[in-house]
Amino acid sequence: MNVDGKIAIVTGAGQGIGRTIALSLAERGASVVVADINMDLAGAVAVEVEALRCSAMPWKVNVASLKDCEDLMKAVIDRFGKIDILVNNAGITRDMVLLRMKEEQWDDVISVNLKGTFNCTKTAIRYMFRQKSGCIINIASVTGAMGNPGQANYSASKAGIMGFTKAVAREYAEYGITVNAVAPGFIATAMTDAIPQKDRDLLIAQIPAKRLGTPEDVAAVVCFLASNLASYITGQVIHTNGGLYM
Ligand code: NAI
Repeated sequence: MNVDGKIAIVTGAGQGIGRTIALSLAERGASVVVADINMDLAGAVAVEVEALRCSAMPWKVNVASLKDCEDLMKAVIDRFGKIDILVNNAGITRDMVLLRMKEEQWDDVISVNLKGTFNCTKTAIRYMFRQKSGCIINIASVTGAMGNPGQANYSASKAGIMGFTKAVAREYAEYGITVNAVAPGFIATAMTDAIPQKDRDLLIAQIPAKRLGTPEDVAAVVCFLASNLASYITGQVIHTNGGLYM
């Protein structure tokens, strides 16, 4: 799973799954652009990447802004001259049952999760198309496949990412660009720390593996998809969920 010499951009890399993906790619030899809306977090992860003797570029981006994403891609090209790997990981939740969900809660989640994936992919693929190579990995969620009460907005955004992944994969496969999604189940991060303990216990009881996943479980799949070993895999959604959804 070597990604030696490759230039990788990871959005939402300031903490949680994105941070672990950034460090895992660096451990395998990639230079990593640590892109996050929180520059303090991005800066700290960039220091961790550099400690692995890899180049790091912390960058402040709001993926919901197309202009921000254009600026990010241009800055990466200016510094590194190419973009090999884009991991669309930035994501948020604004949970509420539909009857009480505010329009703003719907819009925020769709803007960051789904439109953010569009914004980054559209602005990066221009360069990948010129290179005739590239690898895009979108972080979806098991909820996009099976739904989750209180997460109509989030589940819709993640199902949207799956459809987007397949459409873009079909458009760019012949140009040497792969586009895949990883759909994690419930992973132990700040996002799931917010779930009350008794609900978390109920959740774990439903997972055949009887545990939450780890960020490393997700990062391992991302590293495989980003490596040359996966060059004939495109348009796939790889579920990483301990058997929660089959
Ligand atoms: P997290 O909340 O721990 O980290 C998300 C990161 O994204 C933070 O560093 C945050 O500053 C950044 N971010 C938020 N909005 C942004 C924006 N507009 N632009 C740029 N960066 C932004 O989340 P976690 O748990 O690490 O999740 C990462 C991804 O994995 C998300 O897409 C999430 O939906 C997905 N996922 C997480 C699961 C879990 O159980 N934790 C399960 C399935 C999917």
